[in-house]
Amino acid sequence: MRETEQRAAKAFTEQFGETPELVASAPGRINLIGEHTDYNGGFVLPCAIDRRIAVAMGAGEGGLYSADFDETREPGGKDDSWADYPRGVVWAMGEEGHEIGSFQAAFAGDVPLGSGLSSSAAIEAATALALDSLFGLGIDRKDLAVLCQRAENDFLGVASGIMDQYASLLCEAGAALLVDCRSLEARSVPLDLPAAGLSLVICDTRVERGLADTGYNDRRSTCESAAGTLGIEHLRDATEDDLKRLSGEQLRRARHVVSENARVLEAVEALNNGDFDHFGKLMYTSHASLRDDYEVSTPELDTFVETARRHGARGARLTGAGFGGCAIALVPESQADRVERACKRDFAEADFGKPAFYEFVPAAGAELARSSGA
Ligand code: GLA
Repeated sequence: MRETEQRAAKAFTEQFGETPELVASAPGRINLIGEHTDYNGGFVLPCAIDRRIAVAMGAGEGGLYSADFDETREPGGKDDSWADYPRGVVWAMGEEGHEIGSFQAAFAGDVPLGSGLSSSAAIEAATALALDSLFGLGIDRKDLAVLCQRAENDFLGVASGIMDQYASLLCEAGAALLVDCRSLEARSVPLDLPAAGLSLVICDTRVERGLADTGYNDRRSTCESAAGTLGIEHLRDATEDDLKRLSGEQLRRARHVVSENARVLEAVEALNNGDFDHFGKLMYTSHASLRDDYEVSTPELDTFVETARRHGARGARLTGAGFGGCAIALVPESQADRVERACKRDFAEADFGKPAFYEFVPAAGAELARSSGA
């Protein structure tokens, strides 16, 4: 078992005085390209990272325990704490007619919180997989992801798309995941960076994503009204020609979505051909589009991208919703340290907060580490 899984299992035993019936874990994610396209019915290309949230579970009445916060919460209700994520999953399963009996659970994780690496999808996905197994529900992974999104949208009240939950439940080790967010079809795209002598640097700007919710919801509703102006259901179906019929904010947002969807498909082709130069260029263009047309970047994210470019990165961009959080850069392995050092220096000079860096490994999606009876 992984370290987080062991911690969850140990916490369960200590809290509840018995061994868990099962242990599951699910990863956070970065998105390689395809930002703000999921809720427009478009394409995304996320990749699971080697940071996970684990849950140890069994039947019982002991409640929900977090090893990281060292606190127990009631399984029911809603209190704006971490426990709302597992509660939301239970609620969504109930809404779909699944019978969830009483259970107790202990959580432990190492996905950075509030950094845009989808710790919320990780805790939802781990809970969903564990409940599915504990109560023998037989729900497939795509449906589990949709349930988790429902928890996020309707229980937690966050209007996110499907990308994060899909990534957490469906990614495979060594690969990114191409998702068509309209048909909900997904397939793995191999990502062998070491073979190309490349690594991916994840920079956490540590900028609080404070305005994220309002900014995110505003972007979403502008996209919906742009689609309305064009008489289509989703901007996924808009063409470059259609853009001529839009103006102002609707035009800028739609232009990002239309060009970003095209970039995702080009990026997948570039990966399939091992053409990392082209892949990197698409990352830079994606960032510029998010900065200028979608207006979700920050000075910190822009500084990281420009610093990475000056120090030999093939490509760099913000990842996730923006408004702070993380950026990624594709760099020759030998340059990775240099890019990190230069970024720390440039952040200090600009009086920004201290950035953090995380190692990137294209990791496996949610897994049952120990199942009941094992
Ligand atoms: C957040 C949301 C996702 C997606 C991204 C932007 O991570 O949770 O659904 O919309 O922002 O691409």
